[in-house]
Amino acid sequence: MSLQEHYRIEPLEQAHALHAGFYTGMHWLDFEQREVFGKSWQLAAHAGDLQHPGDHVTADIAGKPIIIICQQDGSLQAFFNVCRHRAGPLATCNGKGARALHCKYHGWTYELDGGLRAATEMQDAAGFDKSAIRLPRVQVRAWQGLVFVALDIATPPFEQVFAGIGERIAVAGLPQMRFAKRDTYQLACNWKVYIDNFLEGYHLPFVHPGLSKVLDYRAYDTELAQWHSLQHSPLRNNDGIYGDGNAWYYFIYPNIMLNITPGRLQTNRVLPQGDGHCIVEFDYYYTDEPQVQARVQAEQAFSDEIQAEDIAICEHVQQGLASGSYSAGRLNPRRESGVWHFQNLLRAAYARQG
Ligand code: FES
Ligand SMILES: [Fe+2]
Repeated sequence: MSLQEHYRIEPLEQAHALHAGFYTGMHWLDFEQREVFGKSWQLAAHAGDLQHPGDHVTADIAGKPIIIICQQDGSLQAFFNVCRHRAGPLATCNGKGARALHCKYHGWTYELDGGLRAATEMQDAAGFDKSAIRLPRVQVRAWQGLVFVALDIATPPFEQVFAGIGERIAVAGLPQMRFAKRDTYQLACNWKVYIDNFLEGYHLPFVHPGLSKVLDYRAYDTELAQWHSLQHSPLRNNDGIYGDGNAWYYFIYPNIMLNITPGRLQTNRVLPQGDGHCIVEFDYYYTDEPQVQARVQAEQAFSDEIQAEDIAICEHVQQGLASGSYSAGRLNPRRESGVWHFQNLLRAAYARQG
């Protein structure tokens, strides 16, 4: 049976998981970088790093070098971080308050808006018109204190992808939160294994005994939108780790999670690393409220514990997927609709390529 037959989208009640063949083999990396990561909104920075004119952030987006720059009027622009001379970098790290961008290779100078201002010693180049040269633009959006970019014009509109999220989470006050720290994890599993695992609470009672006590498994629910899904649960008995209220776990296709508990945002960015490996970045943001600050340490220790449990199970699952003994099992319609939704978006991306 060829993998093409697994592009077909089944009703939830009849659905199978994505075939194991999509989780192994180097050949998927190029395709997914181009068609999945390269045609979607990607979390690239937090707004706190881009507050003043000339502040800039470099990022690797779908394997391509990008730079985001705060303009004179405070708006953001993003470009390929690739000089028009011979492809050198305009910046090799984040920076503050630059007046212009100087290429690190031969010193060509660009305005913050990407236009070429000066090209060193080019007076002998016949017909060289610096006013015709500028850095290629990339779409950029600031939203809720986070900054997203999209490389390809074929990316669905930002408003469509994030529809309804801002209104729903307004009470959480994300723009008031400040970046606290980043944890980076290297995992021995395909990136899709980690996302699949995030998208269901079915494993909670078995993999996360501690978290199960805190979330109300019976009230745990999943909602699906066109390009994102939401799992949510009331918080209970959490001894002040999260505070009282709700936990919201948003997934934005294809690789961004926003985990929101009272006073706290944790973003997860899942990045492919070829055959059977991925990187997961956790960024933590908090409000300044004393009751939130008082629980930061306990909350991060608890998050570490949950992450260790997820990593262990994901790495086992990768071995299972690569074992040759498994193809695609049935999904639980009540508990795994988020997995079904994600995998159908992926199937559509694979199918577009034939
Ligand atoms: S590559 Fe940028 S100045 Fe030469
Ligand atoms: Fe988990």
